Amino acid sequence: MAMVAASAPGKVILFGEHAVVYGEPALAGAISKRVRVEVARAPGGLRIYSDNKDHRYVEKAVELVFNHLGRSSGLTLRITSELPPASGLGSSAAVSVATIAATAKALGRELSKEEISRLGHRVELEVQGAASPTDTLTATMGGVLYIQPGKKYTWVKASLPLVVGCTGIERSTKQLVEQVRALRDRYPEVVLPIIKNIGGLTREAKKRLEKGGDIGDLMNINHGLLVALGVGNEVLSRLVHAARAAGARGAKITGAGGGGCIIAYAPGETKRVLEAIEAQGCVALDAGIASEGVRLEK
Ligand code: PMV
Repeated sequence: MAMVAASAPGKVILFGEHAVVYGEPALAGAISKRVRVEVARAPGGLRIYSDNKDHRYVEKAVELVFNHLGRSSGLTLRITSELPPASGLGSSAAVSVATIAATAKALGRELSKEEISRLGHRVELEVQGAASPTDTLTATMGGVLYIQPGKKYTWVKASLPLVVGCTGIERSTKQLVEQVRALRDRYPEVVLPIIKNIGGLTREAKKRLEKGGDIGDLMNINHGLLVALGVGNEVLSRLVHAARAAGARGAKITGAGGGGCIIAYAPGETKRVLEAIEAQGCVALDAGIASEGVRLEK
């Protein structure tokens, strides 16, 4: 049978990381760097060819699709990714979601986005033990999502030129979330207002994005508050300051911090900001917001 392919985007958190753990809103955006999964039915079991380390997600995604459709097949899967793994850019979610869409299609079913996002979240839960639905939701739906814990997400219409700068330092989101919780427990009267403030600036950013306004200052404030929560480090700060010096209107940690990546908002200055990050010895990605989530490819 012919090969089918699907792709899904990575994500950045634009505003609200960590505060979202305490019920504040967050804004997440799909980015124009994608993971592509090709699937062909083949005799025998599962064969996976991949240039990253997300095999467990691929295996689990295939298993859940088999269960969901009540049928199975031998498959060959080929995965190519434009996303650095374990950097907080949602690589495992994009792999999971694209694998689900392509595998179901290879078995003759086109799944709805709701089905894909639900199965994708289950893949992450089963492989990692815990996972927020943000990454799989963003990889499936695309665009910018306004996420309020306990409520249904909404879309924010926004197109943003972004540069992503990656420290190359792997970190554990779980450990950083615990670290912030410990700081909150030690200094509740100091830390809780910071978390509330991040919520306030995320709400303000949503309003500005909807009007096509500049979000640079708000990104810079959010960065400062993340540093105050203790999730910054020297390399992250260097990248943030290098991006600002090269003309970015705003730059901040994206995701859990402690390593991983920064995002810079750099209308008209993308090239200079890319070069400034590379001059720090780090990987830089020119990655605007992608309006399209998971899609079947020709
Ligand atoms: O490291 P990332 O990009 O997966 O982001 C984690 C975001 C946190 O708010 C720190 C945790 C969470 O589950 O929302």
